[in-house]
Amino acid sequence: MQVHKSVMLERCITLLTPAIERNTNPIVVDATLGLGGHSKAILEKFPEVRIVGLDRDQSAIQIAKENLQDFSERITIIHAVYNEIPAVLDTLGFKKVDGILFDLGVSSLQLDQADRGFSYSQAAPLDMRMDQSEPLSAAVIINTYSKGELIRVLRNYGEEKFASKIADNIIKARNNGTLNNTNDLAELVKTSIPAATRRTGGNPAKRTFQALRIEVNNELKVLEAAIPAGLDRLAVDGRMVVMSFQSLEDRIVKRFFADASESKSPRGLPVEMAEFAAKFKLVFRGSESASEIEIENNSRAQSVKLRAIERIAA
Ligand SMILES: C[S@@+](CC[C@H](N)C(=O)[O-])C[C@H]1O[C@@H](n2cnc3c(N)ncnc32)[C@H](O)[C@@H]1O
Repeated sequence: MQVHKSVMLERCITLLTPAIERNTNPIVVDATLGLGGHSKAILEKFPEVRIVGLDRDQSAIQIAKENLQDFSERITIIHAVYNEIPAVLDTLGFKKVDGILFDLGVSSLQLDQADRGFSYSQAAPLDMRMDQSEPLSAAVIINTYSKGELIRVLRNYGEEKFASKIADNIIKARNNGTLNNTNDLAELVKTSIPAATRRTGGNPAKRTFQALRIEVNNELKVLEAAIPAGLDRLAVDGRMVVMSFQSLEDRIVKRFFADASESKSPRGLPVEMAEFAAKFKLVFRGSESASEIEIENNSRAQSVKLRAIERIAA
């Protein structure tokens, strides 16, 4: 069995428990099923729960189906992008759900399958597609985007200070035929960055790889659509838990959660009118991180930021 160490597993379950236990037939959406670690723990703990598990990666779906075969009567596994939550729930005839979990980003499976091109530490084709049936791969971006487009991607999605230099070098290298795989790209980024900067802050290729991955999978736009769409389908007392692993995603989650949990009363009204009252409340302020012990045992947990919100009114 392939393993992915699920991040903040106990904490996710604890946060979802009140939302699940209040209903006799609870429904939970696992928006990022992956290998099914979180879903399995939820199915084991709550015998009445029914899960709708989504993933945009066919190979993750395949493995999740095997890992969760003992629970096949209580989990519906669907190949979909998580901004399709409303359409998936409509098809299944579920109006509202009790819990929604997002464990964003890539799984260990995706990082470990070298040929997927997600990892800058292994030589692989420039791919990075979470759904390999989609046409846009990292190679298409690297080989066809203009300098301006490359700079936009690297700046907006990688917060890369040396975007212009990297874009210049990408264009030179692609014209010379020397940019063919992830190793070539990682090396190109390294040589595009001043030596002094190279010595600080980890592998310099990390930001470029993140940027390309976000562009390939349209990750931020999809998340911006998925969070409000998911909140809309939460039942009263239902909860959404989101784990992000990089600041661009966490900022989106934070913004939507802050907006949803704010009163919309016009300023200066002496009393809050029900129609303007917030329909959600934050389960706790800010974000939570993984414990030191978990981080020691699972390096993926190092950058996690977990946020949770509860619907308090219809
Ligand atoms: C970190 S893993 C989830 C791991 C899972 N919670 C577990 O414990 O096994 C994230 C998964 O979300 C999937 N994913 C990422 N973005 C997605 C999206 N927009 N729609 C659907 N699935 C997505 C990835 O393919 C990956 O399998």
